[in-house]
Amino acid sequence: MSNSRKYLIAGNWKMNCNAGEGAALASEIVAEVGQQTDVNVCFCPAFTALETVSKELSDSNIALGAQNMHFEASGAYTGEVSAEMLRHLFVSYVILGHSERREYFGETDVVVNQKTRAALAANLKPIVCVGESLEQREADETIAVIKTQVEAGLAGVTAEESEALVVAYEPIWAIGTGKTATPEMAEAVHLEIRNCLAGLLGEEAAGKIRILYGGSMKPENADALLAQENIDGGLIGGASLKAQSFASLVHSAAKLAQ
Ligand code: 13P
Repeated sequence: MSNSRKYLIAGNWKMNCNAGEGAALASEIVAEVGQQTDVNVCFCPAFTALETVSKELSDSNIALGAQNMHFEASGAYTGEVSAEMLRHLFVSYVILGHSERREYFGETDVVVNQKTRAALAANLKPIVCVGESLEQREADETIAVIKTQVEAGLAGVTAEESEALVVAYEPIWAIGTGKTATPEMAEAVHLEIRNCLAGLLGEEAAGKIRILYGGSMKPENADALLAQENIDGGLIGGASLKAQSFASLVHSAAKLAQ
């Protein structure tokens, strides 16, 4: 991680925690790391828990995120939620293009791009996810896949807007499997992502964008991953559902930020 970027530790709760459970987990996390200032911290509950969690976070430095949104501002899109609706609940980050949404809900790079631009226009900070499958890695296609996802997902985003942008590299084979990319493997892809961002937005803007690693990140492997030059934080699934382990990841980043 470079000095010019601040670590971001982001929890993705996925489809876990109802409104009450979410508030309880949020309150435990606030007690552990709510006043943290060296590291940016956020977590992303399900839509139904946003309001109760938002209340728990009101006196803390922890930001609220959502896991998805629609790119239109309003209208006949049954079951969807807009950026404006999220802003109304004090949401500041939104995860977009997670591999689970790409796989189970058919999200394409074009849709991810529409959502990313809509999020930026609404002053939300998009966390745009990219990552290769095991098959693609074994066929030596990782870099090509990532490049396509980054270029298509971010098409039309300006250097100025990109200050709010976060990218997350999540190798699909490492999500929820206990298999983590080694720090060297992850760093190699993060560097390619940075270069790709520089091609799209210029070196200066690319140097400011945080690139998070996601995929079985936990207290035991976080130090080595976060110590890599181009790993600027984590997008954490399983380990974000336990206050102690999530707090420990925040502490790892805070130690490295000193
Ligand atoms: P795990 O940390 O459970 O592997 O999930 C990673 C992830 O998908 C975060 O978005």
